[in-house]
Amino acid sequence: MPISYNKENHIFKLDTSDSSYAFQVYEENYLVHLYYGAKIPDDNLEHLMFRGSFPSFSPYNAKVCNPMFSADITQSEYSGEGAGDYRLSALAIKNADGNCVTDVRYVSHTVYSGKPELEGLPGLYLNSEDEAQTLELVTLDAVTGARVTLYYTVFESLPVITRSVRVENSSDRPMDIERVYSCCVELPTADYDLIGLYGRWYKERSVQRRALAHGIQSIASKRGSSSHNHNPFAAIVSSDANEDYGEAYGFNLVYSGNFSAEAEVDASGSTRFIMGINPESFGWRLEPGEGFTSPEVVMVYSHNGIGEMSRVFHRLYRKNLIRGKWRDAVRPLLINSWEAAYFDFDSDKLVSFASQAKKLGIDMLVMDDGWFGHRDNDTSSLGDWYVNENKLSGGLGSLVERVNALGMKFGIWYEPEMISPDSDLYRAHPDWCLQVPGREKSIARRQYVLDMSRKDVRDNIFEQMYSVLSKYNIEYVKWDFNRNLTEAGSALLPAERQKEIFHRFVLGTYELMSRLTKAFPDLLIENCSGGGGRFDPGMLAFSPQIWCSDDTDPIERLSIQFGTSMCYPASTMGAHVSACGRTQIDTRANVAMWGTFGYELDPNKLTDSEKREVTQQVEDYHKYYSLIHEGELYRLVSPFENAYRCAWEFVSEDKTEALVTCVTMRRAEHPMFILRLKGLDPDKMYEEDESGEVYSGALLMNAGINLTQRSDRDGESLTRYFRQV
Ligand code: DGJ
Repeated sequence: MPISYNKENHIFKLDTSDSSYAFQVYEENYLVHLYYGAKIPDDNLEHLMFRGSFPSFSPYNAKVCNPMFSADITQSEYSGEGAGDYRLSALAIKNADGNCVTDVRYVSHTVYSGKPELEGLPGLYLNSEDEAQTLELVTLDAVTGARVTLYYTVFESLPVITRSVRVENSSDRPMDIERVYSCCVELPTADYDLIGLYGRWYKERSVQRRALAHGIQSIASKRGSSSHNHNPFAAIVSSDANEDYGEAYGFNLVYSGNFSAEAEVDASGSTRFIMGINPESFGWRLEPGEGFTSPEVVMVYSHNGIGEMSRVFHRLYRKNLIRGKWRDAVRPLLINSWEAAYFDFDSDKLVSFASQAKKLGIDMLVMDDGWFGHRDNDTSSLGDWYVNENKLSGGLGSLVERVNALGMKFGIWYEPEMISPDSDLYRAHPDWCLQVPGREKSIARRQYVLDMSRKDVRDNIFEQMYSVLSKYNIEYVKWDFNRNLTEAGSALLPAERQKEIFHRFVLGTYELMSRLTKAFPDLLIENCSGGGGRFDPGMLAFSPQIWCSDDTDPIERLSIQFGTSMCYPASTMGAHVSACGRTQIDTRANVAMWGTFGYELDPNKLTDSEKREVTQQVEDYHKYYSLIHEGELYRLVSPFENAYRCAWEFVSEDKTEALVTCVTMRRAEHPMFILRLKGLDPDKMYEEDESGEVYSGALLMNAGINLTQRSDRDGESLTRYFRQV
């Protein structure tokens, strides 16, 4: 049983395949955290609670008999506010008396097989009830009547626990949630590093690793979306951890809005970590009887290094986050019009792309931005989702038919949450965008943001999308989002609820996405936000792939894809071969192959030899599809640690196949390069495809494969494919 409760010592133990997590109901029903780490069989863990003596400055509860107990130094299972624990608080509720003191204590619990759905929020799902057990731990702030349920879902065959929190107002007066984090995790020392993924537009998800230090360190977004700047992922790893060794605790919030992850090292030298909705610009009014559910955080533990942590996330997301037909079905190989034409296209040009692409073996044409309203550049028409007949003469139906007649599928671009000031929609409903009274609305990419908290807004956008998608044979939607939120207020919310808008915006987007996926279950949605500005698990619950970055230069993509792979599998990473001139086309393809793979160029402009290469790449895409989409990723040489080379490897689950790719980013000081592979079976024999040489797994992993090149020029790359013989 993954979840157990020892009635004698009141210890809860949550055991996954490879980790244990424990806490205790202590005197006065305090919830005291005890342990999170590698799996242990015991549950006599009370001794872990002792934190030494505390000074007179530390408050204590006189009702607790233990003179060594103070909330100031105790590891809390879910920290409150203003009642003696001065470290990061996971929960703060302003009560009807106007103060924020919040102190929840254990009331009861239930354990059951399965995992509950979170109201209005995406989350992991189970393929069968016995895949996981859930603990619902009910706590109460007896003074204010805030009833807080902590949810823990514990996976049996993966070292994964998900957590979320529900706050209910069981009093007869209103209360305001000021902060409600989805988890609070305590670690007994500070001998850890914090890893985060930072960046900006065109340079998403660079890996940053820093030693934890006394005080608070944080990773957060308050841009209204998860953002290019910081991803809702954090890992706390032992100071000595590397790809293959050491402890790694990975955290990923299933949420697409403002988030915050904070780690505090306290005076006892221990670490508290919390993750959830960013409390800055957040507030939530709870009237009597109302409830609020937090998004869920996914916690992964590995004692075999950072690489294994990533592979657990990958396995989990492939099977328990990505939904619907496209989880398992082979995704179409697409060509996208954006970098080939930008706004400058008409039906004939698109048909010519499709016709040439078909000859190269490509499956689908995606018509990107510019097909609707009178949009010939980015100054107009968002919100007017009807076809621009000047560009697409004969209409969308005729274009789709012409493309289909070539044997190609058709996909289309939308930016549903946005509105241009120059649009019929804005002229008819100026109050439909986010705004606050008396303040000019900031503009970005010449557009405003729709108030997604409003049902009338969502209904309008849904109906517009429905009328196009239900009429024509459109099999793919690229869902874009090209700015962040400002002056975030809603014309419909009362003053005391205006701080709810950021979260209501996200809930509104999820509601629209879920309506669309229900109406069109076979539709493949690729999420995008000016590249990878909303690359998060919340979006992955609706769209199995996300455009990784607007930067399609393969050398730049190495660090972007490397960082993204910290928790997101290759099958989710939108990656295309573009016309980017600085690197030859085989390297562009080798890098895009570490992702969904596709093209983003004018196929008519390819030379004959490039066309032959593309035909070969398409063949390779099919050959390696399941190895990349379902295989295990090993990051061999990091572009953040090695100035010259980057290398990675996919190994099939049964270890019978492996594909290794190595890219020279810059000519190396030393030409000799021997690469040791990972993840193979030492006792199996593998044949290398190109040379026909046979090597043992032991040789490939210990001696390595000699990849020294005669020329070792910038931008060159190579692949090696091994199959068990
Ligand atoms: C930003 C996306 O990342 C691009 O791929 C493209 O779709 C443009 N938006 C279109 O405006």
